[in-house]
Amino acid sequence: MIVNNKTIIISNRLPIKLTEENGEYKLSPSEGGLATGLGSVYKQGNNIWIGWPGIEIPEERHNEVRKKLAELNLIPVFLTNEEISLYYEGFSNEVLWPVFHYLVTYANFDQIYWDYYKIVNEKFKEAVIANLSAGDTIWIHDYQLLLLPGLIRSELSQVTIGFFQHIPFPSFEIFRLIPWREELIVGMLGADLLGFHTFDDARHFLSAASRLSSSNLSENVLLYNDRQVVVEAFPMGIDSKKFEELTKHEKVAKFTASIKASLKNIKTILSIDRLDYSKGILQRLQAFELLLQLHPEYIGKLALYMIVVPSRDTVPKYKELKDQIDQLVGNINAHFRTINWVPVHYFYRSFSIEFLSAIYSSADICLVTPMRDGMNLVSKEYVASRVHQDGVLILSEMAGASKELNDALIVNPNNIGDIMEAIVQALNMSTEEQHIRMKSMQAIVAKFDIHLWVKNFMDKLKEVKMMQESLHTK
Ligand code: F6P
Repeated sequence: MIVNNKTIIISNRLPIKLTEENGEYKLSPSEGGLATGLGSVYKQGNNIWIGWPGIEIPEERHNEVRKKLAELNLIPVFLTNEEISLYYEGFSNEVLWPVFHYLVTYANFDQIYWDYYKIVNEKFKEAVIANLSAGDTIWIHDYQLLLLPGLIRSELSQVTIGFFQHIPFPSFEIFRLIPWREELIVGMLGADLLGFHTFDDARHFLSAASRLSSSNLSENVLLYNDRQVVVEAFPMGIDSKKFEELTKHEKVAKFTASIKASLKNIKTILSIDRLDYSKGILQRLQAFELLLQLHPEYIGKLALYMIVVPSRDTVPKYKELKDQIDQLVGNINAHFRTINWVPVHYFYRSFSIEFLSAIYSSADICLVTPMRDGMNLVSKEYVASRVHQDGVLILSEMAGASKELNDALIVNPNNIGDIMEAIVQALNMSTEEQHIRMKSMQAIVAKFDIHLWVKNFMDKLKEVKMMQESLHTK
């Protein structure tokens, strides 16, 4: 019998989430870059994806859910409400998320969060080991599972482990504030290859690791416990072909036509994010408000389409942000609207990929201004969807994507005036200039797509493993 080795993808959340309706479990796609980015990969061959299905499932229904998900190559890790609250909302999103996004004052260094982070990382380890066969490759994703590489390594010293972090890695002066910093670094060093979106993130990790627990062998190779660990930047791409193709679908064309008909001669600025304080949503609204104040000539001629996808709304800082957004949108609309024109079209919900494609195709400007972002795939999705090569991307210099998409209008997200001026520049940009910029960004997005990203990471992981083996046989 020929058994193909598989890749096991592990992330906190599965790419599919469960919701309960009248006692029945329904499946829907998860939000966020990781789920959309890796969606196609786990479906190949006998690969599997291990993660949390998004809600607490009572024990007596675990088997039913296991069966339902197994048909999709997905293996659930069941979390109790206590674990969800203390490991996910607590340590992951009230400690690591704010610190890694440089918002240290938002962090809550609670010992019980840390205790549960360790418990749940152990739980994931058990699930991985239960599904692992000889020759498999383990690929762990993101900050919720920083201890997992080390936990697996301590049981299986030879296994191949890759780790990719989808959010920024902060500079050492920020990272060192975490009370459990050494344990986190040691956990990550259980991997053979550690990937980050940007060279800066990789450099920050190398600096933290070499100060806390390992030694540098060369610029990007660390020595820990007699094992070489390689650290590199792998800027994540999107399924660019899929976004291009989507624009031709009948359903998308219908959506696009109805959006355009509703807008008539109104220019549109698009803003799409998960609800998150790292995304700069309030600052973006302030810039739009400033524009209406300083440039009244745009009143009645310009609209902001703001889609905020619900996320982590049980975490206090997120609830607060939701209230602030609601209030600011209300103020802007109340102040500037006219009888037949609304400045901010605000949606707090998720949309189908077809609707998103239509809105990407319809928007004259896409405004992506996170305060800090690992990569930001929305910016790349907008570029890939502009099949007529028009449209302008305004992009924060704090997003990983700004290192690749140099032809966007690059702004400092803290500088409201700068964002406002970029919007004015975008509104007045000639079609020729739009084409030149868009074409060059499309070439990058098409070339460095999700498939190449996966290939580059996997090829490097193989290379690292071979290098380690050859050193051991010497
Ligand atoms: O990309 C960062 C990330 O936290 C992913 O790990 C996650 O899948 C996504 O954002 C959405 O976040 P959450 O799973 O907390 O809803």
